[in-house]
Amino acid sequence: MQKSTKAIFTTQFEEEVHAGLTDFPKHLSSKYFYDEKGDKLFQDIMHMPEYYLTQKEYDILLNHTAEISELFASGNPKFKLIELGAGDGKKTKILLKYLSENGFDFKYQPIDISQNVLNGLEKSLQKELPNVTVEPQQGTYFEALEEINSENGTKKVILFLGSNIGNLLHEQAIDFLKSVQELMQDEDLFFIGFDMKKNPQTILDAYNDQTGITAAFNKNVLARINNELGGNFDLDKFLHWEVYDPETGTAKSYLVSKEDQTVSIDSLDVLIDFKQWETIHTEISQKYDDKVVAWLAEEAGLKIETEFSDSEKFYKNFVLRKR
Ligand code: AVJ
Repeated sequence: MQKSTKAIFTTQFEEEVHAGLTDFPKHLSSKYFYDEKGDKLFQDIMHMPEYYLTQKEYDILLNHTAEISELFASGNPKFKLIELGAGDGKKTKILLKYLSENGFDFKYQPIDISQNVLNGLEKSLQKELPNVTVEPQQGTYFEALEEINSENGTKKVILFLGSNIGNLLHEQAIDFLKSVQELMQDEDLFFIGFDMKKNPQTILDAYNDQTGITAAFNKNVLARINNELGGNFDLDKFLHWEVYDPETGTAKSYLVSKEDQTVSIDSLDVLIDFKQWETIHTEISQKYDDKVVAWLAEEAGLKIETEFSDSEKFYKNFVLRKR
């Protein structure tokens, strides 16, 4: 039996790890993949040939730079470009470069949970695009939303790239889209990336690379528990496992215990038992079709203004407006 004597947690990480590992079936949130090591592993993932998402969205932005830029500036030419989960900004820089070289009147506000990532982005922008005004903001999407709220008076173009929305179940995605919608004015635009349904094998390969980078990324949540909460997970005793349901479009990541084992987590004062082949569900990466995107937008009070895609229709960027 698992026992716990400690009921008060100092951080949300502690609380959620405790709740997730004492639940049945076990689960941990993918938001905890991202510490310095996890950020680096995700960078590596974005460079893998199997992980087509990054390249496809990059191609879309590259092939439609002028059209997208004109769309951002249409009506009211002055705008603030707010990016949720900016990361290294590699894709956004295509737009920033064009906007800056063609004299568009805008400011760029990258928002990311990782201060480390933001510092890197600000530094690289100073060097590569010194004319772009950058106002970085550290925080979660929710804090970011509050920041958006304080921006009334300037037209906002909100960027949410990388199919980051895919980490949310539809119900949560609608809540998130709705909270963005509520903070939008009629002239504001929401530019958002969705990874589309495709050959299921292509999707499985993207989340199950042979080099083991995705496995290490998935296991990084265990590494963080070891480092930050005094856990003693043996990462070799867990298997990275990916499933994809082509009907629902849901890809799910698991960590599977290879044997019966007990793990202790000192700062939670807890012992966690694993049966052989017991799972920890760690991530969902939802894939979409046109119907589902239209439904999500509708439910959130948004309307689709236009969309951009790559030649294979692997990935789509939608431009949404308040309905
Ligand atoms: C950053 C959430 C979009 O789900 O595709 C990559 C994270 N997980 N490989 C995704 C991820 C495994 C990624 N997102």
